[in-house]
Amino acid sequence: MKMAISTKDVGISILLSIALAWITKSLFPSQPFIPLLIPLLFTLTYLMFFSGNANAGSNTPPGPTAIPVFGNWLQVGNDLNHRFLARMAAKYGPVFLLRLGVRNLVVVSDPRLATEVLHTQGVEFGSRPRNVVFDIFTANGQDMVFTEYGEHWRRMRRIMTLPFFTNKVVQQYSPMWEEEMAAVVDDLRADRRAQQEGMVLRRRLQLMLYNIMYRMMFDARFSSDTDPLFLAATKFNSERSRLAQSFEYNYGDFIPILRPFLRGYLHECRDLQSRRLAFFNNNYVEKRRKYLAENGGRSKLRCAMDHVLEAEKNGEISSENVIYIVENINVAAIETTLWSMEWAIAEVVNHPEVQSKIRKEIDDVLGDAEPVTESNLHKLPYLQAVVKETLRLHSPIPLLVPHMNLEEAKLGGYTIPKGSKIVVNAWWLANNPELWNNPEEFRPERFLEEEQGVDALVGGKVDFRFLPFGVGRRSCPGIILALPIVGLVVGRLVKNFELVPPPGVDKIDVSEKGGQFSLHIAKHSVIAFRPISA
Ligand code: HEM
Repeated sequence: MKMAISTKDVGISILLSIALAWITKSLFPSQPFIPLLIPLLFTLTYLMFFSGNANAGSNTPPGPTAIPVFGNWLQVGNDLNHRFLARMAAKYGPVFLLRLGVRNLVVVSDPRLATEVLHTQGVEFGSRPRNVVFDIFTANGQDMVFTEYGEHWRRMRRIMTLPFFTNKVVQQYSPMWEEEMAAVVDDLRADRRAQQEGMVLRRRLQLMLYNIMYRMMFDARFSSDTDPLFLAATKFNSERSRLAQSFEYNYGDFIPILRPFLRGYLHECRDLQSRRLAFFNNNYVEKRRKYLAENGGRSKLRCAMDHVLEAEKNGEISSENVIYIVENINVAAIETTLWSMEWAIAEVVNHPEVQSKIRKEIDDVLGDAEPVTESNLHKLPYLQAVVKETLRLHSPIPLLVPHMNLEEAKLGGYTIPKGSKIVVNAWWLANNPELWNNPEEFRPERFLEEEQGVDALVGGKVDFRFLPFGVGRRSCPGIILALPIVGLVVGRLVKNFELVPPPGVDKIDVSEKGGQFSLHIAKHSVIAFRPISA
């Protein structure tokens, strides 16, 4: 730290003070003194203690010069999305560091370093950062998705694997998935108006996915999209997404002295979370507990929750962990898969030649009578390539779920300070023109031609350019369900309907909208359906 005050330091402190005055004024419109006091204190602190380049002399990764207190936050803003970070990588290199207030963000943008983070040094970088809001939504890591790497995570992942993430589970439940998908096709066939004018297909697919996941979890089903339990579940989950994914609370996370001003926001999060968990508990978990108690040893373990409750009974996990398994499935499984379906369908509508090829493949391989099922998906490589191409071009989690190093670590010859948030720009790995031919084109053929053999895998031989589910210890265990479910939906819809834009529309708008780490289609597409007679 240097003590000499230069004109540059004074200039920077004035600019920062103005910014701070503006922020505090908008936070406290009715209090005249706070917007004056905080910038004044800040200016003094800055000039007395922190002037100079905070990055100087360290072996941390390159990055823009950080200023005290705010770091790079005022330069880079809140929306550090995959495209913006790819542009920064062009300037600062495949690993760079941003200081966001007290937080360090390390961005990895090349396959070799991604291999280091996710695979070779998977243990060192295998934790998750949380923030003030995620601490609330996970009860400080009582869950699996956002917990630290360690014994608790290992136990939770093991307990969740048996009832959710094995081939046996896929075999057990795929007839049920197919039944739910057949119901979607039947509903669309019966809806003349939607066929002609189009409809937001997402709504029907959302009901289907909730039914698939709730049947797997609880052996419970929603009767329709007006079922009060369905309305409550979707509302609770979308409120949770809104509060957790918003950029609104960054200031309190990055600059701890501002945290008291987040009190209202955090109260809203706590209130929502307690009502939401009570909803899961009262309507689902307790019912399963009661069912198991009444049926005693005679009953077979029927759904995932029965296995989870068995683990609770054996003392492996607490009742809080049980409810957080439910919460994690609600967060991780449903929207991600739904977003992928929305992208896939929008692209298929915008590329009629792709749609015809999917239909032709199904007709050639399965004929008219045999429906697309999980067990025959492997015979439909073009359909699978469509799913992969969708996830390449539109990754629902483009920066993966952030990783974190519990201890100081080395990466690419640099020192990564302990507790840094590490994001792998998986979208850029899959869309970098130096690694892919014309990556901006939706062209499933690439996975059958020049990229043959490139698969989204969680283990085995992995191509680190294509990681929509991550890879290694913290990779997505849900890949085993998500890939067939998306493939089945696209296959069944295309087999039964010609999917077209609604009248008067040329192309479906595929612009994107992101949150803290999710990416979805900005406007839910309206799609029209021309039934194809069997
Ligand atoms: C197309 C749909 C999906 C996509 C694109 C997706 C993507 C991802 C990604 C990128 C991660 C983080 C990987 C990392 O940090 O390295 C993740 C983690 C996770 N996903 Fe998925 N996912 C999908 C569907 C599902 C489904 C259906 C489930 C459950 C039924 C699920 C459960 C999880 C869980 C539990 C984790 C946390 C793993 C851990 O921290 O150990 N996901 N997912």
